Amino acid sequence: MAKMWGGRFRETTSNLLDQFNASIPFDRKLYREDIQGSIAHVAMLGKEGIIPNDEVDRLIEALEIVREEIERGDFQFNIKDEDIHMAIEKRVTEIVGDIGKKIHTARSRNDQVATDFRLYVQNKSKSISKQIVELIETLVHLAEQHTETLIPGMTHLQHAQPTNFGYHLLAYVAMFKRDYERFQSSIERNSISPLGCGALAGTPHQIDRDYTSQMLGFREPSLNCLDSVSDRDFALEILFNISMLFTHISRLSEELILWSSYEFQFIKFSDSYSTGSSIMPQKKNPDVAELLRAKSGRVFGNLISLLVVMKGLPLAYNKDMQEDKEGVFDSVETAEISLEILKESIRTLEVQKENMEKACKVGHLTATDLADYLVKSCDIPFREAHFITGRAVAKAEELGIDISEMKLEDLQEIDSRIEKDVLEYLSLRNSMNSRNSQGGTATAETKRQIEKIKEWLENI
Ligand code: ARG
Repeated sequence: MAKMWGGRFRETTSNLLDQFNASIPFDRKLYREDIQGSIAHVAMLGKEGIIPNDEVDRLIEALEIVREEIERGDFQFNIKDEDIHMAIEKRVTEIVGDIGKKIHTARSRNDQVATDFRLYVQNKSKSISKQIVELIETLVHLAEQHTETLIPGMTHLQHAQPTNFGYHLLAYVAMFKRDYERFQSSIERNSISPLGCGALAGTPHQIDRDYTSQMLGFREPSLNCLDSVSDRDFALEILFNISMLFTHISRLSEELILWSSYEFQFIKFSDSYSTGSSIMPQKKNPDVAELLRAKSGRVFGNLISLLVVMKGLPLAYNKDMQEDKEGVFDSVETAEISLEILKESIRTLEVQKENMEKACKVGHLTATDLADYLVKSCDIPFREAHFITGRAVAKAEELGIDISEMKLEDLQEIDSRIEKDVLEYLSLRNSMNSRNSQGGTATAETKRQIEKIKEWLENI
């Protein structure tokens, strides 16, 4: 079978080369964008009088037939066609005859692939953003129910200060909000059409790039053709945006795994999102969260792969760039299923509120509050207050109790300046509610943060 570009070749390509060179096994995913781009291109050629209008109609009809054939599963994908661009062009030509050979006027596969792939990345950035919003909504809904649920706030995975569970969830909401915004700014920046750039240097045909750009929903045509046929920043951006998203997903997953363990028992995953062990009948494993934690590995890998592919490439298009697609498809599909399952696991999990509150009675969470009390009410310099509190902690340990359970007499034995009002400072709930500075954990402040996020959700 002769290749579309086979004019100068005497022999056919080896099967081995076809296997190695072809991108059709994976770039067939871009058929929708390829047809969309071709329709815009052909419509523009018609408008400019480069192809007669009746031929334009027939070409567009044929492109739509091809789309239906692919969607019905009737399209013959053949490795010999090399890529989705040539496969579609060939089929269009089979349908409309010689007119089909005009479709590639004033176009190259270089601007074609850059356009298709950019459209794909823009569309997926929008749908992933939507999924992030749904995840945020799920987290906010859970947070609203737990603004008074005490949970030990930690640093170094050691008990630090009492917080509420809603507040903890809002920290993740803040991360996912940034992820959403990152996708949005990429969508905005990359809303640039490469179509009409030709192989690398533009075209002598009188084309209208504004027209195709608008038809494809881009903000404007690109500035410089040499750059835009070889620009894959948009692909790197989506890979980075997904990587960042997975950094956050992996941190949340890690906490969910810890919280569902026997040691914590803060949450229970629903049976529909947990797994069992083939040997240990008692086990209920957090496989979903573990896989989510692990998926970050592959998406980071995809980002690094493409960075390395692109690094040091001379202008303009190089075949190296065909390696841009599989990693992006993989990261996108990983993000899609991961966001859905994370949202569902969170929506269906059970919060073991009593255990969270019980855990707050371990680890002297209100020690900082005692130090603050000594500074505020007893006029003791902070460093000294820190030391006195240290002694109170040692005493509590000796008594086998938490600092929040200490009696006034025991505290006065350590420092006689301590008075009865200290007990309010040692209460876990008071401690949590005392941190009412902007962004703090107090229930009222957590509720304010929730309102703020809800307002944001309403306006996006
Ligand atoms: N299959 C190619 C890719 O994905 C399309 C562009 C080919 N261009 C070329 N000049 N060989 O990158």
